[in-house]
Amino acid sequence: MLVALVATLGLSGVAMAKPISQRAGSPGFVPIPTNCTIDDSLPGSSSGSTNISGYMPSADFTSDNLVYSSYFDSYLNQSAQIQQCREQCYGYGQCKSALLAYQVPTPAGYYGTAGGVLESACLLYDAYLDENAFVAAPAGQYINETAGNIYCPP
Ligand SMILES: *[C@@H]1O[C@H](CO)[C@@H](O)[C@H](O)[C@H]1NC(C)=O
Ligand SMILES: *[C@@H]1O[C@H](CO)[C@@H](O)[C@H](O)[C@H]1NC(C)=O
Ligand SMILES: *[C@@H]1O[C@H](CO)[C@@H](O)[C@H](O)[C@H]1NC(C)=O
Ligand SMILES: *[C@@H]1O[C@H](CO)[C@@H](O)[C@H](O)[C@H]1NC(C)=O
Repeated sequence: MLVALVATLGLSGVAMAKPISQRAGSPGFVPIPTNCTIDDSLPGSSSGSTNISGYMPSADFTSDNLVYSSYFDSYLNQSAQIQQCREQCYGYGQCKSALLAYQVPTPAGYYGTAGGVLESACLLYDAYLDENAFVAAPAGQYINETAGNIYCPP
């Protein structure tokens, strides 16, 4: 628990170096072409799980691969929200995967705040998510997660 908390605080500084601010230029919502395929498996995916709670991308995966993140009060249902998150990933260009989760702490420095506010989050990465990308999250965080590895033909 403490280790996970330290990891979360540690990565927030790194995340700040990335364009995490929506106001600084949010990726557009671009419909994903039908010739792309989306793999939404998550940890525990040996059983094909597409909806889990309690896992978060590791600090290493985040610092290496997070390209954009947004935190918000979700007003859409989970399936509509992940669709938007995936479309932002596609719209970003270099993005390969998207993760939607609820009860995700905002990073320290987010819009000048101390961070730690639990919100819905859309997290975009320039690498594919697999089981190795995830570690256990602090209790009550990263709830009802859905992912999307987006594979498009060259
Ligand atoms: C989620 O919201 C979308 C858009 O409002 C709607 O089309 C869809 O039926 C909803 N899905 C569920 C499971 O409620
Ligand atoms: C998780 O999903 C369930 C079922 O849709 C919902 O009742 C619950 O409020 C959700 N939890 C969060 C934190 O969004
Ligand atoms: C996702 O999993 C959570 C926890 O098991 C559950 O409460 C929720 O209903 C699930 N949501 C969906 C959309 O299946
Ligand atoms: C995939 O679909 C997009 C959008 O329709 C199209 O521009 C692209 O050429 C297609 N790629 C292949 C390999 O078919």
